[in-house]
Amino acid sequence: MERERIVHITNLVKSFNGKRVIDGISFSLYSGENLVLLGKSGSGKSVIVKCIVRLMEPDSGMIQVFGQDISTCRESELAAIRTRIGFLFQEGALYDSMTIRENLMFPARRNARLRKLPEKELQEVVLQHLESVGLSDAIDKMPAELSGGMKKRAGLARSLMLSPEMIIYDEPTTGLDPSTGDSINQMILKIRGEYNPSSIIITHDIKCAKVTGDRMLVLHGGKIIAEGTFDELKEHPDEEVLLFFNH
Ligand SMILES: Nc1ncnc2c1ncn2[C@@H]1O[C@H](COP(=O)(O)OP(=O)(O)O)[C@@H](O)[C@H]1O
Ligand SMILES: [Mg+2]
Repeated sequence: MERERIVHITNLVKSFNGKRVIDGISFSLYSGENLVLLGKSGSGKSVIVKCIVRLMEPDSGMIQVFGQDISTCRESELAAIRTRIGFLFQEGALYDSMTIRENLMFPARRNARLRKLPEKELQEVVLQHLESVGLSDAIDKMPAELSGGMKKRAGLARSLMLSPEMIIYDEPTTGLDPSTGDSINQMILKIRGEYNPSSIIITHDIKCAKVTGDRMLVLHGGKIIAEGTFDELKEHPDEEVLLFFNH
């Protein structure tokens, strides 16, 4: 049986100031997989992701998410699609002026499923999710009091609480020391084991790609220059692909 396509992209093109940052890219994300987009800084990884959630409009190309063409669907359909996607932003994207608890309560109160719960149960859901990322002790702290790794975990707890079917991790280990990076990689695997979402992991960190990815796409010069598993790609003939493995 053919696996379900969660995201299906064909011939995506996006230019800025006449320069093609994305120069005709096609790929699919299949149900339940961890797909890594590996590319150097500035290679267009975040642009691809912004196009997928339509924070950015492509010049051309087709993008289907959960089977719907996001360039032709209505605003209400687009909003519904976005609620099914969890986003771990590069900086964690917590609200600076709210405690960690409030950072989770705020989206929970806006979620169609969670807002039906009585206040006490909602608080319980928030606590459970902070526990699952090892952050229950930090529940009443402000984001500024947390380390980089803790902020990422808080951002993850906030996403997971909304039961996303798909998760996009934008540079989950960037800016973290190696051991904190490892703990985030392990958490990505744990989330897959527990919730089985379909995930896109964007990174330039080969260790992150190796540990978390089932399949990797290598992005260079606006194109996908290689696709395969870590073991397949580490012997790739292309110099630009090997560069990632020689670090
Ligand atoms: N809104 C924008 N306006 C102009 N240029 C942009 C914009 N967003 C991204 N770019 C350019 O596109 C290229 C790829 O950016 P990005 O996708 O953020 O790279 P990365 O792979 O590091 O995530 C960069 O050269 C960046 O300057
Ligand atoms: Mg980026």
